[in-house]
Amino acid sequence: MSTDADPGGMTIPGPGTESAVASSTATSQAPAAANGQAVIETVDLTLSFGTRKILTGVSADVRQGAITALIGPTGSGKSTLLRTFNRMNDKVSGYKHEGDVVLDGRSIWHPSVEVMSLRRRVGMLFQRPNPFPMSILDNVTAGVRAHKMTNKAGMKEVAERRLTEVGLWDAVRDRLKDSPFRLSGGQQQLLCLARALAVSPEVLLLDEPTSSLDPVTTESIEELVRTLTPGITVIIVTHNLAQASRVAHRTIFLNDGRMVEHGETHAMFEHPEHEETARYVTGRFG
Ligand SMILES: Nc1ncnc2c1ncn2[C@@H]1O[C@H](COP(=O)(O)OP(=O)(O)OP(=O)(O)O)[C@@H](O)[C@H]1O
Ligand SMILES: [Mg+2]
Repeated sequence: MSTDADPGGMTIPGPGTESAVASSTATSQAPAAANGQAVIETVDLTLSFGTRKILTGVSADVRQGAITALIGPTGSGKSTLLRTFNRMNDKVSGYKHEGDVVLDGRSIWHPSVEVMSLRRRVGMLFQRPNPFPMSILDNVTAGVRAHKMTNKAGMKEVAERRLTEVGLWDAVRDRLKDSPFRLSGGQQQLLCLARALAVSPEVLLLDEPTSSLDPVTTESIEELVRTLTPGITVIIVTHNLAQASRVAHRTIFLNDGRMVEHGETHAMFEHPEHEETARYVTGRFG
């Protein structure tokens, strides 16, 4: 797996479990597809570690203001692709890319693109919460401070607004100076989400953000993600096909080193173009 922040290895839904739920909910609950223009395009993108190609020739687009799910079996390259979008892999040993990723018309590897500004525009939330070793308040405002986005007085306001947005304000308002590590796992994840939102990203990358959360926190994160769009474009990696069908306008399916299919979620779940997709979304292989 690619990093300690992204250990992967999640359970794949088996027949009659998540995927059955996904198929049954796809018709009734899948949101209408967003028809916005492409904000991120991958152009014949090939990603490798050393001599091993992880994904080959991926040409897909991510629509502005939509939620796009990245699905596929374990090891299919979801995290590698997601982490490529804000150049989190650039320094990983052996990582190579061919082809391009274009954000708003410009390559993310163009010499004029600064990685720090790219990551302000394209924020990320990992599977495991990773609060910084500083107070709760400072965690939320870390990016805002680094990018000098507001003055000292504005920090508290940003923190309150973002913590309220993620539903954590009441739980932490009296302990803003405390360590985040005393918060529960779910609360830590909400804190990291508040931190990611505080710099007002245009695109938010979520790598299995709810895989270790209880159903109530999962639902509140899904609801929040829905309300963030269309202001923000969201890409969410998930093994939970029911979650993909609940929240994602569009879905990209990766398998066996390739992008097999991408398009509107409900179309892909109900009328997949490829047998491989049909087998995956109905839980016939994981
Ligand atoms: N830093 C790395 N060095 C070498 N190989 C890596 C690295 N990171 C990932 N890989 C390999 O790339 C492939 C894709 O991994 P990736 O983490 O993208 O899969 P994934 O689809 O996110 O899987 P999961 O669902 O288990 O999280 C795997 O075979 C993995 O072993
Ligand atoms: Mg992964």
